[in-house]
Amino acid sequence: MPKHRHIVTVRDPRDSVWQSVVERVAKREAQQAAVAHRAATAMQAPAPSAPSALQAHLDTMVEAANAQVFDRDELAQGRIPESFALAPQGAARSLGGVAATPMVSGLESAKRCASLSLQIAKAKVFGTDGQVQVLQNAFDFNVCDPFWVKCVNEYVTHFQLNGDKIPYRAGLDNLLPTPVSANATIALFGDWGTGTQDALDLLQQIKGFKPDILMHLGDVYYSGTQDEMQERFLDVCESVFGASMPTRFSLSGNHDMYSGGEGYYWLVDQLDQRASYFAIQNDDWLFIAMDTGVHDFDPIQGGSSATFLMSSEASWVNQLVANKGNKKVVFLSHHPLFSAYDPIGGSSLNPVLLSQIQDSLPQVTAWFWGHEHRLGVYDPFQNLQRGRCLGHAAVPVFADGTGDPPKLAGVPVFHQNGKPLDMGAADGIFKHGFAIMTLNGQSANVSYYRQGDTDPLWQESY
Ligand SMILES: [Fe+2]
Repeated sequence: MPKHRHIVTVRDPRDSVWQSVVERVAKREAQQAAVAHRAATAMQAPAPSAPSALQAHLDTMVEAANAQVFDRDELAQGRIPESFALAPQGAARSLGGVAATPMVSGLESAKRCASLSLQIAKAKVFGTDGQVQVLQNAFDFNVCDPFWVKCVNEYVTHFQLNGDKIPYRAGLDNLLPTPVSANATIALFGDWGTGTQDALDLLQQIKGFKPDILMHLGDVYYSGTQDEMQERFLDVCESVFGASMPTRFSLSGNHDMYSGGEGYYWLVDQLDQRASYFAIQNDDWLFIAMDTGVHDFDPIQGGSSATFLMSSEASWVNQLVANKGNKKVVFLSHHPLFSAYDPIGGSSLNPVLLSQIQDSLPQVTAWFWGHEHRLGVYDPFQNLQRGRCLGHAAVPVFADGTGDPPKLAGVPVFHQNGKPLDMGAADGIFKHGFAIMTLNGQSANVSYYRQGDTDPLWQESY
């Protein structure tokens, strides 16, 4: 624990599904080989190659698939020049520069096969027979491991099986009986489901605050399969908290939905969350978690489109707020209402989501969201007093030296000492972070921490 040193997230949801498929096939191959090896050993028959040798080979396959989609994503976004992406400069660069990894023999040829296989898989699901044939000829010309054929078949099967709707649980009045004490400590963190050492370390740091509630703002990578929910959410929580587990919640993000949502809803049942939307409360506070992932599930269309709530859920949210009495309201979601950084359906604001909850917004003390892998703190905007993005818990993001300045005009970013809050970087990667909300009767303090820091980067009180 953790099993994954690297995490590579890309913008094309079809690639996220591919990453899950490759990992799943590799895991299955390793398990089958281990069984065969044990059986052969027990029978004193000639054993197939040692499981450790096969594991190294499978690790290379997974690494190649991740490196290939990562390089293409970087190219598409213009963050690296073509020559750099295509030259075999070493795996460390290809995998996010997280750790200096020695060049793996055969990695580059595996990347070629990974690339061709993904193209074939996509052509089979989304393209034409002609495209498949051309790509298949290229694939046959290269000497590729049969592993890739299994991945292509699994990818095609995935889309045949998961072409239906997300198993959204509509119509629940899901105000949970979860106790929230008057001085509860709530950890807020988003896009954390990577299973990496960084994710483990961050949760370890959170543990130091003795949280009563872990509020994960969604996204378990790569596509929210049950295995990924187990390994990258439950197992990591277990290894950090063991028997003293806080109450846990995990919101519905786009990556959670890319595999069709079954893994996510399985997790929801492990957490006693009942649904992808829920509310918890005490005498002074009402927390309402909304499901914005349900309309950002499409591995074909997904990415940066303007998602929205199910209409029944929006009505439920507005009704809760209308009947809140003297309670202060906190909204929680995976997707942002607005952004000064990444366009939402081509705009800085999600007008569909806004239209659904705009009557409630003046009553909302703060809205915490994730999705963008950064800290974002905003001045009042669109009748929302405090929009806060906390999607920087675990996914590595390159720091290009510019400090991630706001890119979209018109959205007011909070400034301290004349500039936005600065997460800083280490080894070319932006630092990760989280927030700790401490209730104190009717008031609350929210402290924003950087990974590894003892003192908060910034704090606010309501
Ligand atoms: Fe997301």
